[in-house]
Amino acid sequence: MSSGRAFKLNTGALIPAVGLGTWQSKPEEVYQAVLTAIKAGYRHIDTAFVYRNEAAVGKAIKDSGIPRKELFVTTKLWNNSHSPESVKAALDQSLANLQLEYLDLYLMHWPIAFQTSSRIFPRDENKKILIGSTDFTETYAAMEKLLGPRVRAIGVSNFTVANLEKLMKSATITPAAVQVEIHPYFPQTELLEFCEKHNIHVTAYSPLGSTSSPVMQEKIVIDMAEKYKVSPAQVLLAWGVQRNTSVIPKSVTPSRIISNFQDVVLTKEDIELLNDLSKSDYAGRLLDPSSLWGVNIFPSKL
Ligand SMILES: NC(=O)c1ccc[n+]([C@@H]2O[C@H](COP(=O)([O-])OP(=O)(O)OC[C@H]3O[C@@H](n4cnc5c(N)ncnc54)[C@H](OP(=O)(O)O)[C@@H]3O)[C@@H](O)[C@H]2O)c1
Repeated sequence: MSSGRAFKLNTGALIPAVGLGTWQSKPEEVYQAVLTAIKAGYRHIDTAFVYRNEAAVGKAIKDSGIPRKELFVTTKLWNNSHSPESVKAALDQSLANLQLEYLDLYLMHWPIAFQTSSRIFPRDENKKILIGSTDFTETYAAMEKLLGPRVRAIGVSNFTVANLEKLMKSATITPAAVQVEIHPYFPQTELLEFCEKHNIHVTAYSPLGSTSSPVMQEKIVIDMAEKYKVSPAQVLLAWGVQRNTSVIPKSVTPSRIISNFQDVVLTKEDIELLNDLSKSDYAGRLLDPSSLWGVNIFPSKL
């Protein structure tokens, strides 16, 4: 059982250090996964409109019997709803899907607008994604207006330092959290430093390196897991939490959901050894839909 570690957001709210990720979890799987997680002690669930599983996540939350105020629920605004006039409707839809009265955190999923559409991936006749003209600063301004009883905190996801700098110039409210890809192959140290300076919490997504990741097969990770008598996943999650990021490992496997939540504390020396993985052949960003969407999402490395 986890010790209930949590980080404080700039809103004063606490975000539990370990949450359950739900990307690629099918509705019938995610229902069981969320129930298992809550029973194991998780209080932080991460979903998104585009995962098409908000309804199953919400049903599991309801059926778990856990009081709403004990949970931290994050969902995300999808790219087809970036125009300022569609942001509120997208929130309404996510809250209805989740059967919740409020979100603990609402994130802009990507800094990229698709054309406003009822289609999740609006495409032209050549199957090319239709990119919209709304700048993410306008979308964020519309999200700021959502703050209140239905949205306790807002933030962004898949932002680089350059995009955060641009956002901070026009934002009236500093994002409470930034959710980005982080694991030892892609530690995002500069982004962490930037966020620490501006009092923005960072959540590490794909903390295990995502599906079939080679990072869990790294000898150093396996050896360390043996030394601490834990799983390689737990080593990677401990590395994330000890860098003050919340981590949201996805699993639909009950035994993994349970073990991922168990606390491990690594020595400073072992953290340093894992940091060296950023120099490995696989080092770098694993998730980048730029070529799929025909737009450069991460023009700058930082
Ligand atoms: N904001 C964004 O754009 C964004 C992007 C990506 C992810 N995310 C969020 O971050 C969450 C986590 O990222 P992710 O889903 O990409 O990847 P991840 O959590 O790094 O890895 C998930 C994979 O690891 C497996 N796994 C989980 N625990 C394990 C364990 N103890 N031992 C061995 N394998 C294990 C899972 O398999 P099983 O399920 O079969 O157990 C799954 O294949 C997502 O689910 C989502 O909520 C957000």
